[in-house]
Amino acid sequence: MSKGKCVLAYSGGMDSTISVVWIKEKYDLDVITLTVDLGAGPEIEGVREKSKSAGAIDSVVIDAKDEFVNEYIFPALKSGGMYEDVYALSTALARPLMSKKLVETARKYGAEYVSHGCTGKGNDQVRFDASIMTLSGDGESIKIIAPAREWGMTRDEEKEYAAKAGLELREVGDNNRVYSIDRNLWGLAIEGEDLEDTWVEPPEDAFSWTSNAEDAPDTPEIIEIGFDKGIPISLNGEKIDGVTLIEKLNVTAGKHGIGRVDHLENRLVGIKSREVYETPAAIILYNAISALETATLSREQQRIKSNLSKIYSDLVYDGRWFTLLRENIESFMNSAQKFSSGDVKLKLYKGNVTV
Ligand code: ARG
Repeated sequence: MSKGKCVLAYSGGMDSTISVVWIKEKYDLDVITLTVDLGAGPEIEGVREKSKSAGAIDSVVIDAKDEFVNEYIFPALKSGGMYEDVYALSTALARPLMSKKLVETARKYGAEYVSHGCTGKGNDQVRFDASIMTLSGDGESIKIIAPAREWGMTRDEEKEYAAKAGLELREVGDNNRVYSIDRNLWGLAIEGEDLEDTWVEPPEDAFSWTSNAEDAPDTPEIIEIGFDKGIPISLNGEKIDGVTLIEKLNVTAGKHGIGRVDHLENRLVGIKSREVYETPAAIILYNAISALETATLSREQQRIKSNLSKIYSDLVYDGRWFTLLRENIESFMNSAQKFSSGDVKLKLYKGNVTV
């Protein structure tokens, strides 16, 4: 009899590479890794080789950047998806899409298991679990394996396990700090190490997309973003697709020191967590659309939108993407943004965006 199969969400990092070995050992399953490219990492190069050398029977890589932008990021932008007024939900928006790809790939391979690398302490496990259960609910049920939640290894034990399994893994950045980093087109989230002390200013080497405002160029840069019904469609007068727009804005705004967010966040599991983000494009686009809305929405529309935006942000943050309520709120937003078309001019200078 052939073995059962498990599709594992795979970044190529240490935890997910150990997971390949661990699932094979512990569950006696064949492992297929799935890497979803949502832009700016995970480092896609070398992912297939790493997955194969860890013992996966197949390695699937899907480029889902366009889908991510058009079906997740832009609807959230239009809906005011800023959690606790500062976090653009970059990681939270990615999880439902990754879950969708996991379930689709599992169906394709006839796998009865899917796996994600989340621990038992964060939001992401809830987002994956809820999305996977919702999406697989209409067919053969799919079981979830979460190695990092189940194995109970410390960081050192993980390293030992990796060494025993013959895996060569290095994840240490400068100064031997090992931040927990999650990144995609919409943003980069940095957690852990010295950042857990809220009294400590993030060290410069924690950042990779943005320059310090103090070192940013001495001359301001002016850009113009065009919107059509609440969706950004042009940059400096030229039509542009969403992925390229976000990539460009991350570079331009990042250079001017825009996009650093540092706050104490309420996780849905009840923990408070110090979070540092780099989200240059998101900051620019939210500033732009908010300015446009002051001209295109009535006072009452603005009030209702702002109330619904809070509910929407919590809902997305909490992993309830695949719900009717999210669709209901987006229907309101689509209707409210009917006249949100036009250009917004912004000045970028030393960490500030001025409309
Ligand atoms: N706190 C954010 C969220 O829950 C980001 C988590 C990102 N994960 C990470 N390993 N840095 O959406």
